Amino acid sequence: MVSPESVQSVEIARAESTRGEVVLRRRTNGTGADVLELRVNGVFVMDTLETTSEIELAAQALELVEDPSTVLVGGLGLGFTLQRVLADPRVERAVVVEIEETLVQWMRDGTVPHGPALLADTRATVVNADIAMAIAEARSTYDLVLLDVDNGPGYLVHQRNEAVYQEEFLRRCRDVLGPGGVLVVWSANAAPDLLAALRTVFGAAEEQAHDVLLQDRPEEYFLYLARR
Ligand SMILES: C[S@@+](CC[C@H](N)C(=O)[O-])C[C@H]1O[C@@H](n2cnc3c(N)ncnc32)[C@H](O)[C@@H]1O
Repeated sequence: MVSPESVQSVEIARAESTRGEVVLRRRTNGTGADVLELRVNGVFVMDTLETTSEIELAAQALELVEDPSTVLVGGLGLGFTLQRVLADPRVERAVVVEIEETLVQWMRDGTVPHGPALLADTRATVVNADIAMAIAEARSTYDLVLLDVDNGPGYLVHQRNEAVYQEEFLRRCRDVLGPGGVLVVWSANAAPDLLAALRTVFGAAEEQAHDVLLQDRPEEYFLYLARR
């Protein structure tokens, strides 16, 4: 995935964590609208212009389960997956796990303008942790687990997230799903090894390609779905 070229781009927030820098930039697109862009370690992670696949990550999962009352989201980012989860009135509790405390702060204090309203939803709980730790320590089951913590196994921002796409971790995800619960994993690239690992762990899994437009350039992002 390549960063969209900025027409005009201004840095509005920056922080250093033990994993590197987290930067929020505002650029103005061709129509004069403001677009927020999140970069981690110099790598484009997402923006607020093309969010269809982040929203589909939630929408596809919500469609597969009759009563998705509890949802675990890995990676808050700019909150589009969480927003789609909370738009579903069947959801009673959504736990979102985000490793970068500063990003949570930017969502809470309005640095990301839509953040405060989103996190004010009483059904949402933000946990500042590594998803690997959160899954290992989970004491209850979820109807849905939605993972979007990196750009996918072929394009990692953090090398340590490699494990998120591998059998051992996917097995733990299966174990925190209730019967019939669904896991969906987002990836910027087709990930045949991830699909194979999901099929090993769950018995069956589906790959979906979703068309996206990055600065008028057509691309595909991928979702991987599996049911317990
Ligand atoms: C692509 S963004 C998520 C986008 C989100 N789906 C949305 O709709 O805005 C990935 C997020 O995962 C976070 N992250 C990266 N590694 C993580 C980990 N191991 N555990 C939890 N969060 C992580 C990043 O800091 C970033 O906020």
